[in-house]
Amino acid sequence: MAATRERSLILVKHDGVQRGLVGEVIRRFENRGFKLIGLKYVQATRAQLESHYEDHKGKDFFEPLLAYGSSGPAVAMVWEGHGIITAGRAILGATDPIKAQPGTIRGDYATAAGRNLVHGSDSEKAAKREVDLWFKAEELLTWHRAGAQHLH
Ligand code: PPS
Repeated sequence: MAATRERSLILVKHDGVQRGLVGEVIRRFENRGFKLIGLKYVQATRAQLESHYEDHKGKDFFEPLLAYGSSGPAVAMVWEGHGIITAGRAILGATDPIKAQPGTIRGDYATAAGRNLVHGSDSEKAAKREVDLWFKAEELLTWHRAGAQHLH
């Protein structure tokens, strides 16, 4: 099977770090068979978050989103694999945790819109922009999985 290069930027936001959910998030993506190609512990600046959430500028939650997001470290990851953008968002669950299904990360661990623990790219265009915002090209390490044709 040809290797796919579809990628998604997944963040364990500061509330996810506070809740001790970094390992749980990684476990769920690894168990599903996706490939981790970039990982860093990062203190986001307001400017970085302003750029990351640029589509939401002017909305009433924009300021709290930036303020909380820049108040402590997050974990930024790039995951790779066929369907990662769609499947990744399914693993995270609905943006509003109250609407998130049990079995998803937000459905299992969150209740508040402003503390929904994780972020995932919602389109290929967004993924490209977000990966470039959080990672330098040399920080992404592609690798081949030996002897598991059903995984990417
Ligand atoms: S919208 O208006 O429907 O396009 O916005 P939405 O996709 O639901 O959310 C965009 C991001 O804003 C976060 N959000 C909030 N943060 C803090 N407080 C409140 N009330 C709030 N509502 C939405 C939401 O979690 C999205 O961020 P990410 O990191 O992608 O989850």
